[in-house]
Amino acid sequence: MKVYNWGIIGAGWIAGQFAKDLKLLPNAFLKAVASRSSERAKTFAGEFEIPVSYGSWEEMSADPEIDIVYIASHHPFHFENTLSCLEAGKAVLCEKPFTMNKEELDKLVEVARRNKVFLMEAIWTRFLPSTRKVIEIVNSGELGKMQNIYADFGFLLEYDPKHRLYDLEKGGGVLLDVGIYPVFISQLLAGPPVKIHTTARFAESGTDHSCNIIFEQKENIVSSLNCSLLSHSPVEATILFENGYIRMESMFLTPGPITIHRKDKDPQLFEFPEKGGGHHHEATEVMRCLDGGLTESPLLPLDFSLGIMESLDRIREICGITYGN
Ligand SMILES: NC(=O)c1ccc[n+]([C@@H]2O[C@H](COP(=O)([O-])OP(=O)(O)OC[C@H]3O[C@@H](n4cnc5c(N)ncnc54)[C@H](OP(=O)(O)O)[C@@H]3O)[C@@H](O)[C@H]2O)c1
Repeated sequence: MKVYNWGIIGAGWIAGQFAKDLKLLPNAFLKAVASRSSERAKTFAGEFEIPVSYGSWEEMSADPEIDIVYIASHHPFHFENTLSCLEAGKAVLCEKPFTMNKEELDKLVEVARRNKVFLMEAIWTRFLPSTRKVIEIVNSGELGKMQNIYADFGFLLEYDPKHRLYDLEKGGGVLLDVGIYPVFISQLLAGPPVKIHTTARFAESGTDHSCNIIFEQKENIVSSLNCSLLSHSPVEATILFENGYIRMESMFLTPGPITIHRKDKDPQLFEFPEKGGGHHHEATEVMRCLDGGLTESPLLPLDFSLGIMESLDRIREICGITYGN
């Protein structure tokens, strides 16, 4: 068994969740963390028993012993962090949203493919057992034709211009950070939109704090997708078919149960107990691909991430969501 040396760029909240889950994997060794602050890197390294800490992001890509870098900085920095790692020949798992726009992602994909280096977006939901089960049921065709997808992700976040979700410089706004999950599940199950209808509302700081989206997709499937910082919502995904529906229970993007409701039958619940928080599944996929000499995951290929970014760009254009780029 090959053991891979991992590094983390960005010592924030999600980096901690990921570090905890990585420890569950016998073929992963978390060797280094890089932060813009050497003090924050040291504290993080101490908390998660990481032997090396760097006080700048650049030092991570220069470390020859690191095989895979997990990028957990705020999204305006994903492009530069990922680029420097790819150029240094490191495999990269980059948090969602991959980049701020499709133009940035086009460039990263071009570099990864040209240099034959592994690159994947850290949409952990794709690799959860619940999502895999949903795909299995959809592909079986047992529920008949798919008609609609409803998915939402909302929570009340009181207005605070210093909070990253209300701060444009930190990539604030609900669409890219939160709305990406409903968009993701819709495109995973029904493909990219042919037509988009959407509207957004804005906070004082200029960030979008709610966005409602309708996708018209192939085979006449229509998705209704909502994200909001203004109200709590069920955070469920429901996939409707001629002969029943599948509900990915709250919170649909995290490890959790799904229920199949077949017409005239009792609902069937599937549960998927987890050892950790669920982030190890995506890390497992990265190492499975590297073991097999792959530079993209067949389960979450770069073209799929490009499709997501294209939709986010189009929604932004229609709603007037800008970041000065
Ligand atoms: N997959 C998921 O479930 C999930 C969940 C949440 C977020 N995310 C994504 O992950 C990325 C980071 O989100 P996050 O929630 O982890 O953000 P966060 O906690 O605000 O951390 C982001 C960055 O801020 C810096 N930072 C952390 N603590 C700080 C402090 N006390 N003072 C100043 N700077 C500090 C860190 O960079 P340095 O240490 O390098 O300075 C860190 O990389 C975003 O792109 C987000 O969309 C994904």
